[in-house]
Amino acid sequence: MDTVSSYIQSHRQAFEDDLSAMLRIASVSADSRQRAETRRAADWMVEQFKQLNLATELVETAGHPLVYAESPPVPGRPVALVYGHYDVQPPEPLDEWISPPFEPTVRSGNIYARGATDDKGQMLTHVKSAEGWIKSVGKLPIQVKFLIEGEEEVGSQHLAPFVKQNREKLACDTIVISDCGQFAPGVPAITYGLRGIAYFELRLRGPRQDLHSGTFGGAVTNPAGALVTLLSALKDKDGRIQVPGFYDDVVPLTERERDEFRALPATDAEFMQQVGVTDMWGEADFTSIERRWARPTCDINGLTSGYQGEGAKTVLPAKASAKFSFRLVPKQDPHKIGAALRKFLDERLPPGIQMELIDHHGAPGVVVPLDSPYIRAAAKAIEHGFGRAPVYIREGGSIPIVNTFTRELGADALLLGWGQNDDNTHSPNEKFSLDDYHRGTLASAHLWQELADTPPRQVLRGE
Ligand code: BES
Ligand code: MN
Ligand code: MN
Repeated sequence: MDTVSSYIQSHRQAFEDDLSAMLRIASVSADSRQRAETRRAADWMVEQFKQLNLATELVETAGHPLVYAESPPVPGRPVALVYGHYDVQPPEPLDEWISPPFEPTVRSGNIYARGATDDKGQMLTHVKSAEGWIKSVGKLPIQVKFLIEGEEEVGSQHLAPFVKQNREKLACDTIVISDCGQFAPGVPAITYGLRGIAYFELRLRGPRQDLHSGTFGGAVTNPAGALVTLLSALKDKDGRIQVPGFYDDVVPLTERERDEFRALPATDAEFMQQVGVTDMWGEADFTSIERRWARPTCDINGLTSGYQGEGAKTVLPAKASAKFSFRLVPKQDPHKIGAALRKFLDERLPPGIQMELIDHHGAPGVVVPLDSPYIRAAAKAIEHGFGRAPVYIREGGSIPIVNTFTRELGADALLLGWGQNDDNTHSPNEKFSLDDYHRGTLASAHLWQELADTPPRQVLRGE
């Protein structure tokens, strides 16, 4: 390990330069104008893997390409599959960025750029740790397979079929994912739960075209009014979602888990300061951590209707639309929620309004069993990389493919986040701490060794 650690230590600048190069690519998967850039990011990953002499493939899909690479098999040792994504969220609003989103800039030990933490920086730690082993020792102590996709931020639609058709190729003992966070600065974590998601767009149409609101107002349903009425019917004043059956499959938190959450070092005062609010809000009888990690929610993600320009315009808009999504907890089924939602909206649709409900994407939540030798291996690796043992947390975000992996490959995920809560993911001024980048790389390098010292699943099962 010492040779690997010193390689990593002496290549900090080179690793940062590579991260910067990757961050200069505007691989916004949701934006069709950035198709070429998104492909450039995939090509860039291919080059990284080729430089490590890994067997590397660019896999075309109906959407953005996948990048697959693997190191040679190491008989008798477990196989790790590293999953990450090279695509990023749209950078808007652009005028709120201190430095432009695709011109990575270091300020106070943080690198600022879209994708710095989500997920280019975190994902690269595993590539750089592999480089550390390959360039210093000559090879990795276990077989590592890399599957890096370009559609995570738009729901991973084309990845699931690839996983189903390539179960042999992707066969592994554990799935390593760094696309979440630490609990707090200096408090590394292993994440054992993620929320699922069900994302919709509701489009309402009324009159053929926009109307004078004085001449026609009062005699036809206003689509913008209908939209806010429907959206506000989704929740009651205590934040309880009103769609019938929504809570049917929700697994309640255990007292033990609630106690463990309460023991974590965090206060609501710090939270309010971090996000810049004067008060907290959420479902009654749950703490803010419980609400964010283990309770389902509904949030409006975007609203569009009527006149948005300067000054006032007396218009009755012909159409109105909203993007909104539910965060789900394990056992809630996004398809079932979608069907119940459609019925709920249909039944409440005001007269003279046509509705179109688009189901953008959905994924169930995740809980990972903590009692596993791979979790113990990861905890040791984190201790080596970060200088202290991890805490065990759940998180509120979603990584849509994780359930498919577990179902198709039979392996559980190791969710090892190196990011911080205030990294501004999906927001202006996204950043990643360079110290976390290097500590994550060191932890990852140790993980390959710790996993080499852990029996493969077959042996654990006594086969
Ligand atoms: N890296 C995040 C997921 C995440 C965020 C996990 C915070 C844990 C904590 C991922 O890139 C992401 O943003 N996922 C989307 C999924 C969606 C687009 C299907 C999300 O959660 O909104
Ligand atoms: Mn991510
Ligand atoms: Mn994301």
